[in-house]
Amino acid sequence: MTTMPPSSVQSVRVELANRSYSIHVGSGLIKTAGDYIAPLLKQPRTIIVTDSNIAKHWLAPLQASLEASGISCQAIVLEPGEKTKSFAHLNELVCDLLSARIERDTVIIALGGGVIGDLTGMAAAITLRGIDFIQIPTTLLAQVDSSVGGKTAINTPQGKNLVGAFHQPKLVLADTDTLQTLPERELKSGYGELVKYGLIGDAAFFEWLENNGHRVLAGDQDAVQHAVVKSCQAKAHLVAVDEQENGLRALLNFGHTFAHAFEAETGYSSKLLHGEAVAMGSIMALATSERTGSCPPGRAERLRKHFSATGINHKLSEVAQSDWHPDTLLDHMRLDKKVSDAKLVFILAHDIGDAFITNDIPESVILDILEAGLAG
Ligand code: NAD
Ligand code: GLY
Repeated sequence: MTTMPPSSVQSVRVELANRSYSIHVGSGLIKTAGDYIAPLLKQPRTIIVTDSNIAKHWLAPLQASLEASGISCQAIVLEPGEKTKSFAHLNELVCDLLSARIERDTVIIALGGGVIGDLTGMAAAITLRGIDFIQIPTTLLAQVDSSVGGKTAINTPQGKNLVGAFHQPKLVLADTDTLQTLPERELKSGYGELVKYGLIGDAAFFEWLENNGHRVLAGDQDAVQHAVVKSCQAKAHLVAVDEQENGLRALLNFGHTFAHAFEAETGYSSKLLHGEAVAMGSIMALATSERTGSCPPGRAERLRKHFSATGINHKLSEVAQSDWHPDTLLDHMRLDKKVSDAKLVFILAHDIGDAFITNDIPESVILDILEAGLAG
């Protein structure tokens, strides 16, 4: 990957009245982070929260940039992995922030993937009844999704992201250079989430991904930047019209009712990454749409072919153990947030690029789809 000059940075605005903020996307943003962050600070003090994998590559350049702008920046380095999104780690992080004598005007910077972003955002939402935070997403998944929109959360034994808060960041700096150090499987997992923007509302973007997805995954800067900007534009629009997910924002959960059940069954472990689960769930959402007659045939197969061509793990049968059962997966779905009046909520599609929300799918259809997915 070649580093482009900062002038190539593109920006997207999330319009939320006095909580509006910018997302900047491009190469070299960590090296120049101080320039973007300094004007937002009421005191020249930040605390960076990151994990040890990310710290190895990106903490020193971020600290150097902040210090060059006269901003102090203590760092808290956590263990990597989904298990860090827990009450225990939230407790520890809040205590560390308080021990560092954080003040209302100190800004927290989340430098990392969705795990660090969700946990740090949650800590920022509750510490001193809410302090400002900035997202510097370092995974593809975080750049196209989790760093934008203000959903923060931790997991509990009952399920994923069931405890959380809406707390918007003040700024998002998506430095595409960070993807150079991201393990390939993580990059591909992020791609599983990225594809949903084509599936839910932009058939032309899905077609672009069919033709250019391999460039995104090969780290072609123009392709990565285009994909991240398109995704952030789509997400910024949905967040602006429905910040707290009372309606349209739920479209972003395409494939997620299925995905969260698979993640619960694997115990949120590295056996199945979030974006991989979403890739599997997205195929099943299209299969459900076809089965219930809302979508013409062939769409699930088209998506399956795209995931195969790009090498994304998308086969439930390759992850599932012999003791996995459709009924157990359905039980996990019932514990998900996407339940309304005791009915499961699904995001289905009339076609690729035209998704809708429904709570009217018979459980027998879901059981059939799960059975077919487990069979491979
Ligand atoms: P992650 O945060 O666990 O990061 C993946 C792995 O890559 C970790 O091991 C991390 O240490 C490492 N890593 C991150 N950036 C790196 C880099 N640049 N170089 C080297 N290693 C790096 O996983 P993720 O896929 O980013 O996030 C998944 C989480 O995001 C899930 O908990 C999911 O629920 C959440 N999520 C939240 C939202 C939201 O709207 N808040 C949306 C989607 C997903
Ligand atoms: N990732 C789904 C949302 O932010 O609403």
